[in-house]
Amino acid sequence: MKKLFLFPTLALLGLLFFQATIKSGAEAEILEHTMAPEMPANVKAVVDQKCYGCHNAESKNEKGKSKLDWDAFEATKKSKQLATMGKITEVLENGDMPPAKYLENKPEGKLTEAELATLLEWSAGKKKSK
Ligand code: HEC
Repeated sequence: MKKLFLFPTLALLGLLFFQATIKSGAEAEILEHTMAPEMPANVKAVVDQKCYGCHNAESKNEKGKSKLDWDAFEATKKSKQLATMGKITEVLENGDMPPAKYLENKPEGKLTEAELATLLEWSAGKKKSK
């Protein structure tokens, strides 16, 4: 008689465990897509000074705005942020931003070594010293 109860009990336990696993997986997935890491203050400071002017929601620089809008960036999904950070790393490593043409008239807009390092450390997880 006892053995007859054992199977359904085990089956039920197994089912409960399985459900719990699925649920926590789904929750992790949701978190992954909604919780974008906040930009550190030192990174924000550099961006505000050297990048934000062309890359913001109200920018008259249509091309710059369409490629990167910092106002939208912070609210976007983590997966999208990571893709953008990859782009940022690329332009920084190539020395493409701020654009050379703009720097001709505004040399003070150039990133200092320290600022570049700060941005790269954030976008690519790189340490300061090379
Ligand atoms: C003078 C305006 C200006 C400034 C300042 C500026 N950008 Fe840009 N940025 C642009 C323009 C214009 C484009 C589009 C270039 C193109 O598509 O040819 C662009 C494109 C980009 C792109 C997209 C590249 C791609 O291929 O998708 C990234 C990333 C970027 N900028 C990052 C930065 C960062 C980081 C800074 C600050 C260090 C910065 N920009 C400063 C005007 C600017």
